[in-house]
Amino acid sequence: MRLSIVLATLGFLGPFASAHTESADSWIATIWDHFKQAVDCAGCQALLGSLRLVAKFGEIFMEDVLIGVCDIAGVEDPDVCSGIIQNEGAAVHYSLLNLHIGSHTATTLCASLIGLCQYPPVRPGNLSFPVPKPAKSRPEPSRQPPIKVVHFSDTHVDLSYETGSNYDCSKPICCRAYTEEDAPGNTSTPCGPWGNPMCDPPYRLQESMMAAIADLNPDFSIYTGDVPAHNVWSVTKAEALRDFNATYGSIEKSLGMVFAALGNHDTAPLNLFPSNKIPSEYNPQWAYDALAANWLGLAGIASIHSATQHGSYSAVHSEAKLRVISYNSIFYYKDNFFVYEEPMEYDPNEQFAWLISKLQLAENTNQRVWLIAHIPSGNADHFRDYSHYFDEIVQRYDATIAALFFGHTHTDTFQIAYSNYSNRNWDTASTMGYVAPSMTPTSGSPSFRVYEIDPVTFGVMDFTQYIANISNPSYQINPKWEPYYSAKKAYGSKLLPPVQDPSAEMTPAFWHNVTVVMEQNSSVFQAFWARRTRGINVTSCTGNCITKEICALRGADAQYNCAVPRVGFSFRKRDMTSEYSLREEELRPECNHAGMGQLLAKIAHRAALENGKEVEHIKQNVG
Ligand SMILES: *[C@@H]1O[C@H](CO)[C@@H](O)[C@H](O)[C@H]1NC(C)=O
Ligand SMILES: *[C@@H]1O[C@H](CO)[C@@H](O)[C@H](O)[C@H]1NC(C)=O
Ligand SMILES: *[C@@H]1O[C@H](CO)[C@@H](O)[C@H](O)[C@H]1NC(C)=O
Ligand SMILES: *[C@@H]1O[C@H](CO)[C@@H](O)[C@H](O)[C@H]1NC(C)=O
Ligand SMILES: *[C@@H]1O[C@H](CO)[C@@H](O)[C@H](O)[C@H]1NC(C)=O
Ligand SMILES: *[C@@H]1O[C@H](CO)[C@@H](O)[C@H](O)[C@H]1NC(C)=O
Ligand SMILES: *[C@@H]1O[C@H](CO)[C@@H](O)[C@H](O)[C@H]1NC(C)=O
Ligand SMILES: *[C@@H]1O[C@H](CO)[C@@H](O)[C@H](O)[C@H]1NC(C)=O
Repeated sequence: MRLSIVLATLGFLGPFASAHTESADSWIATIWDHFKQAVDCAGCQALLGSLRLVAKFGEIFMEDVLIGVCDIAGVEDPDVCSGIIQNEGAAVHYSLLNLHIGSHTATTLCASLIGLCQYPPVRPGNLSFPVPKPAKSRPEPSRQPPIKVVHFSDTHVDLSYETGSNYDCSKPICCRAYTEEDAPGNTSTPCGPWGNPMCDPPYRLQESMMAAIADLNPDFSIYTGDVPAHNVWSVTKAEALRDFNATYGSIEKSLGMVFAALGNHDTAPLNLFPSNKIPSEYNPQWAYDALAANWLGLAGIASIHSATQHGSYSAVHSEAKLRVISYNSIFYYKDNFFVYEEPMEYDPNEQFAWLISKLQLAENTNQRVWLIAHIPSGNADHFRDYSHYFDEIVQRYDATIAALFFGHTHTDTFQIAYSNYSNRNWDTASTMGYVAPSMTPTSGSPSFRVYEIDPVTFGVMDFTQYIANISNPSYQINPKWEPYYSAKKAYGSKLLPPVQDPSAEMTPAFWHNVTVVMEQNSSVFQAFWARRTRGINVTSCTGNCITKEICALRGADAQYNCAVPRVGFSFRKRDMTSEYSLREEELRPECNHAGMGQLLAKIAHRAALENGKEVEHIKQNVG
């Protein structure tokens, strides 16, 4: 059937009905125009309106149009454009069809993915707690000898990594023989055997890291997710399953007890974890099941929490009074298209209610709790509504929660929660979230972390970051895993009075005071800034950049993290060629996510450049 007839049948008499109904080609031109015309929030809503019209002609038609737009924008190779769009098309199609233009959901999408709306205000939540908050505070350190816990994250092993293949390719990740020119022997930019900053790492790097961790003989470990590589345009279910098997196999044979969490890459296509309100055909139960099978053995527990079955569990460390709660943070992730529902849910899969029940149980039985997840709850990638609801839970149980542990950013950072965000101070700092950097070397040397933990309170007394220095020429012969810095030495020594006592906890107040010293002494801030990427390709951060970064550290409730949506926000460092002349601030390598959300952001940014309106947009956001 001709499209114009379809349109007539559906009763479209809108502005596009006459001029742009003949074919996908004319819709491609229309959508590209709408991208270019979208200079503000209203323009973004109009763009969503036209995308929604396209979606009404069916998923395949919508995908063809988006692929055409991606090709015009020239933001990725054609196979990357079509791969990403076809992989995630079903979810995008589902969301667009249900979207109400101008709604909280649509505005959130324009803010989070396109960067053209401000974030809408957080909708008040309605979580309820079984009993009021008791008068209870964080326990004092036991002063007993610490136990050792290793934290690693974002391993992203690439089983198709080929030593000698091209590391300077045109794809989002390299070191694969995509073409004859990229093949070993045919390229003048060959990858070494142990990895390259433009690539996800070979399996042997993970084996090397596991051996280094095992040598340290940790009491147990935590892994905050992201197993598969970043070939998001071509990853399949079979490949993801092979990746799970390889990585969890390597972990299992090297380490003892490990508590793991679900990453946004831990399914195929990536990011798409629908809630139970979405038709079950979209549910990646196969991924949950495969991961659960690995996790149970590693954590030494009998069953994943039966009521949820969505990549979360609660486990009690057998010999200790520590409850580890691993939850699915991807329900709160801006690139999970299924979250853009009408209206957006308040508690997808009732996971918040479940968290409350487990935390209450811990409070009742005097257990201490660690919350582990992939995406830091205060990160700009985390929906603000859900960040706030989560923070309400954290505030309620702040005496029970010893700490929170995250990954995802690939950088070395942290987040502080406060009982009063209007008065962020050492005496309102209530909980600490530790964000560990990645093993994959795309934003700095491969890394893992060793915490010194109080064996009674499970408070964090110190940590030592380990790296295998990828800039060192000997790295390609045999990576050496060496201590990089100790948190207490690097930061505690700068406090007034200094906090050096090895048996003192690094409390939320400690970390707040560290941020105060960063404000007062820029060399302390610059040292932190360099450590984020393990000293590699450190960008300049001065003035307003410092203010914003410190604000982010104090923003466990994301509405206070000072992140401002802007076009092109989510680019990777390696996209920063001269044609994408973004501001220096945007060279920050923290956002290594990929997929449909990033593709839309890139298309919007390219459209903005073509339209020559980037300068005004930046002025508007900075002003
Ligand atoms: C919270 O509010 C939403 C929207 O009004 C409602 O659907 C949900 O049932 C409420 N939840 C609770 C626990 O009251
Ligand atoms: C290298 O390139 C040549 C010609 O361009 C091709 O014949 C050969 O197969 C390539 N080598 C590999 C390993 O792909
Ligand atoms: C640092 O940045 C340059 C230029 O973008 C890049 O070629 C190089 O691989 C980066 N080095 C590391 C170790 O990430
Ligand atoms: C899983 O990994 C093991 C080695 O760790 C290997 O023997 C086995 O074939 C793998 N299974 C699959 C399905 O890839
Ligand atoms: C939070 O801090 C502000 C500013 O100091 C203060 O006015 C307000 O009363 C505080 N709120 C609570 C609940 O303590
Ligand atoms: C890594 O190695 C390079 C080259 O040897 C050196 O310049 C750099 O300081 C090292 N980085 C760290 C964090 O040790
Ligand atoms: C943080 O700073 C405050 C005010 O300077 C001080 O009273 C408090 O003891 C400090 N706490 C820690 C843990 O350093
Ligand atoms: C700032 O920190 C640096 C590095 O720790 C230290 O050498 C210097 O004395 C500090 N400056 C001030 C004014 O405290």
